[in-house]
Amino acid sequence: MDDARTVIEAKPMADFVETPYVRDITYRALTYIEAGFPVHFRGASGTGKTTLAMHVASKIGRPIVMLHGDSEYKTSDLVGGEYGFHSRKVVDRFQSRVLKVEEDVAKRWVDNRLTVACKYGFTLIYDEFTRSRPEANNVLLSVLQEKVLDVANAPAGEESYLKVHPLFTALFTSNPEEYAGVHKAADALRDRMVTIDLDYFDYETEVAITVAKSKLSERDAAEIVDIVRALRESGRCEFAPTIRACIMIARALQVQRSKGTPIPNFFMTICQDVLTSETSRLGARTNQDEVRQIVKKLVERTRIYHDELRGVSNAKHGAESLQKNLTLIRQQVNGR
Ligand SMILES: Nc1ncnc2c1ncn2[C@@H]1O[C@H](COP(=O)(O)OP(=O)(O)OP(=O)(O)O)[C@@H](O)[C@H]1O
Ligand SMILES: [Mg+2]
Repeated sequence: MDDARTVIEAKPMADFVETPYVRDITYRALTYIEAGFPVHFRGASGTGKTTLAMHVASKIGRPIVMLHGDSEYKTSDLVGGEYGFHSRKVVDRFQSRVLKVEEDVAKRWVDNRLTVACKYGFTLIYDEFTRSRPEANNVLLSVLQEKVLDVANAPAGEESYLKVHPLFTALFTSNPEEYAGVHKAADALRDRMVTIDLDYFDYETEVAITVAKSKLSERDAAEIVDIVRALRESGRCEFAPTIRACIMIARALQVQRSKGTPIPNFFMTICQDVLTSETSRLGARTNQDEVRQIVKKLVERTRIYHDELRGVSNAKHGAESLQKNLTLIRQQVNGR
């Protein structure tokens, strides 16, 4: 197979969190797949679509081929085409004074990822498929319905229709249509897949993912998740903060703690940095100020914030008493 590099081995993902919420969606997706339907995870950014698609694909157990939607894609980017040249040169020196050169240049056909998946019965994950123009995706209609791939510009001597391998499966993800750069999914294509709409994770899953990705304690992770969820539910953000904000704050806190020197207001600063930038576009000053105020109030309620203040003052106190002790020792040594 030419395209071995694009195939991913199906294996369990590191740090993957399985809560009842995740298990329920996985079970539904696998049931639809077993019934013969492709599955489409649709939801806002950070609702876990790509991760779930990878997880479901790893449960299917076949090698995985991944495609990322792109508005520049043409059908040939999915199916394959003639790329580059394969050239052969014959130099004939039949007579020492006559040089005869014959050059033969042929285009070389390269299977693209969709063809590879259909041919070998792999699992195709087409991530953010609505970022590709609907015309480019039309080739999927017959793949999903009639189980044939139309290789319209197949090289001479090869079948222009490929029978899709019975173990071929497809998983799709997409963001809502109002997102920048997202095209409306063709109705005919959407009609051929089961769409599962994903909302933000439930509380338990959000805490579990934050713990898994940062190695903070569950108690600390829960406080971070509380802040992010309260801000999300306030309805004051241009973009609702996602699980990614929880992971960023938790990891930054973990790194800072590992250095052992408390910094005044560090937790407040990272929450402000992550949450005010994630929830608004550049330049939306008024909105940022409002979000900043909400975050400040939420952080001031946390135990992490108060522990940090105490830690800083203890450290300062500790440093001062160490200084005093050193002075006393020096005085004794000098006999004063
Ligand atoms: N079950 C899970 N276990 C561990 N981590 C998870 C799980 N689900 C999601 N995550 C983490 O949450 C974050 C967001 O997930 P993901 O990238 O899948 O979201 P998405 O919906 O595809 O977002 P986007 O639309 O922006 O691509 C990632 O950092 C991912 O690793
Ligand atoms: Mg994604």
